Amino acid sequence: MRDVAGGLPDEATASPLVVERYDAGRHKKALVALLLELAAVDPPYPSRLSSDGTAESLESWLAAEPGAVDWVATRDGEVLGHVRVTDPHPYLVAHGPAMGVEIDAQTHGEVVKFFVSTVCRRDGVGRSLLTTAMRHIESSERRPVLAVLDGSTGAIAFYNAMGLVEIGAFDGEEGLNHVFMGSPEGA
Ligand SMILES: CC(C)(COP(=O)(O)OP(=O)(O)OC[C@H]1O[C@@H](n2cnc3c(N)ncnc32)[C@H](O)[C@@H]1OP(=O)(O)O)[C@@H](O)C(=O)NCCC(=O)NCCS
Repeated sequence: MRDVAGGLPDEATASPLVVERYDAGRHKKALVALLLELAAVDPPYPSRLSSDGTAESLESWLAAEPGAVDWVATRDGEVLGHVRVTDPHPYLVAHGPAMGVEIDAQTHGEVVKFFVSTVCRRDGVGRSLLTTAMRHIESSERRPVLAVLDGSTGAIAFYNAMGLVEIGAFDGEEGLNHVFMGSPEGA
């Protein structure tokens, strides 16, 4: 599946941004290279608790998980970002009721492993990826949900800009997690 998504090329002649389903054979190497770049910035993504920043640990961090559907954003064949939808992880299922929401695989899809290259931030790549993930979740009449670590100020500003709403927070292995959810009719 290939969709031309709403990227924001700098010039009329710039190539369009494409959001397409992840294909390990074509994309894994480039995605691990992108993660190596993000592991070197401050704060690193993923966090040091999730990966030690080596190619091997980043590859296993990317490994498939229950219900996973992945997309990459590319321009001229260059991989610029990634997003995954999974069934909600146990931490969200467990903390949902305290935030006033029952969260399970029938009612919600979780957005995870979402990241964009530092070389193309604030260019609409994240918006295109998250919109694709949210449409996928909403097509099965579920609601998008995600957890973001306290201190991820850019990501939190992004989710607010995307119209998601913070429904609560919980203490996890890596510290305080803010939980964001899409509105029932779509954010
Ligand atoms: C969060 C992330 C995916 C956003 O990707 P992006 O491609 O830069 O986002 P977009 O360009 O689509 O941003 C859309 C809007 O979100 C808001 N936004 C995005 N990043 C922002 C930031 N750092 N500060 C403030 N607002 C921000 C803006 O309103 C932006 O629109 P504008 O640029 O026209 O003002 C990216 O910053 C990233 O990869 N962060 C590191 C990994 C991470 O934290 N992932 C989330 C884990 S839960």
